[in-house]
Formats: sequence, structure tokens, C-alpha cells
Amino acid sequence: MKIVICSDAAQTRRLAAQVLAQQVKSKPTSVLGLATGRTMEAIYAQLAETAQQQALDFSRVTTFNLDEYIGLKADHPQSYRYYMQTHLFQRINIPAANTHVPDGAAADVEAEAQSYEGRISQAGGIDLQLLGLGENGHIGFNEPLSALNSRTHVVTLAQATLKQNAGMFNNDMEQVPARALTMGTGTILDAREALLVVTGAAKADIVARVIEGPVSALVPGSALQLHPHCLVLLDEAAASRLTQREAILWQMQHDPELRTFLSA
Ligand code: GLP
Repeated sequence: MKIVICSDAAQTRRLAAQVLAQQVKSKPTSVLGLATGRTMEAIYAQLAETAQQQALDFSRVTTFNLDEYIGLKADHPQSYRYYMQTHLFQRINIPAANTHVPDGAAADVEAEAQSYEGRISQAGGIDLQLLGLGENGHIGFNEPLSALNSRTHVVTLAQATLKQNAGMFNNDMEQVPARALTMGTGTILDAREALLVVTGAAKADIVARVIEGPVSALVPGSALQLHPHCLVLLDEAAASRLTQREAILWQMQHDPELRTFLSA
């Protein structure tokens, strides 16, 4: 893992948007894996702004989102499809047909999971996968104890996730859909590059377990330690429980790739 500790959440979001923009510039036919959640809102706002300022062309980009709630139609305001339309797709020149989010309203969700996995392969696999982190360590909706080599599948959401996401559902856990479709941890690990972005003190403990703990199904995000090209962007608050802070800062100053990235 290459880890960057940013001075604040604003720098974290600026750098995350920079990675995405750079990917699209260097490969205009990129296949991007996208994420949702509060952390991503500011990143997409920044990316949309950069896209406008620099006339970034998304017309040949393809996207695959990590996950979707089962039972919510695309026009439901809490669906991840709706989120993506609002926060990103409407603000950039990406053709609708190039954007993929699992269909949570599919009659046969198991078949939808398989077909989603097939569509990712047909597109040539994911070049860059953007990821947030759940407070329980989930990536996508791969909850604790899920198989580290799983493919796109149907999950029953953990109680902690229902609590964490209740804010989007009138603070009522009962209103959060109980199940979701998610890329598997194995699907995520197949992406050629991964970008994990985490901000805020509430995630400091889980960040330390993801980065410094053992690779364990108990903490699905820890599987990213096995990824050969994973960049982690943290703000000071999210990094505050790491024991290897000095080593990380040293890498930031001496690793040529990180130095180039940070001086851009
Ligand atoms: C949801 C998504 C995850 C995301 C997480 C983080 O649970 N399924 O992919 O990482 O939210 O959310 P937030 O950024 O709101 O903390």
C-alpha cells in the first residue's frame, strides 16, 4: 500500500479527484470503478469542477459502481444509481449507456449479480477502483466475515451498516434496505489500481486495522493489503491511530512515485 496522510479533508478530496482526472487524461477509454457514501460526495464535486475547468472528456469512459441496495429502483432518491446521477453523471459528459450500477430492482438479483460480473469482464476489467470504508471495515458492501475472494453477490447488510447509513433514511434503521448487491472483495482486488479514501476521526480505529492489522475476513478492507497497486488517501483525523506514522511520512518524502504525485 502507498499511503498519504493529508493535512485535512480538503486536500484528501483534491488529491482523490486528481487521481481520477489523471486516469481519464492518460487513458480516455478508462474503466472506472466508483463508490458512494458521504466521503465521495465532495470528491465527485471536485472532479466535476476539474472536468469543467480542464475540459476533461468522459465520452469514452466506462464506469461500474460497487454496490446497490436491493429493492430500490433507479429513481429512488436513496438508491446509489440516483446518487451517482446527482453527484457525478449529470455533471460530466459521460454517455448514460457507459455507466453501470447493479440493478437493485432486478426480478432475479442473483442473475443480476452474475451478469454484472460478466459486464465488468466484457469491458476489459476495471482500471481504477475508487473505494470508501465503512465504519465496520466494509468495502463496497462486503461485510465482516465475507469471503475475501468473493465475486459480485447478494449480501445481507450488517447491523452496523444499517446504523451507519440510517442517516440517509430519516435516521430510521428500519427504512434501510436489508440486502444489497455488491462487487465481491475478489472483484475489487482484480482492479488494476485501487484508491481508498477515508476521512474523519470516526474511522481512525478501523483505518488502523485495515492498514496495520492482519489480513482478515473480519475486516474486509484489510484485503487491500494484498493489492499490488493500492493508494490510500487519509486525512489527519483518519490517520490518527496508525502506529507507523513516521514510516508513512518518510515514504511520502522519499518514494519517487509519491513525491511526483504530491508535487503535481
Ligand atoms: C456505504 C457504501 C460503501 C462506502 C461507505 C462509506 O456503505 N456501500 O461503499 O464505503 O458507505 O460511507 P461514508 O463515506 O458515508 O462514511
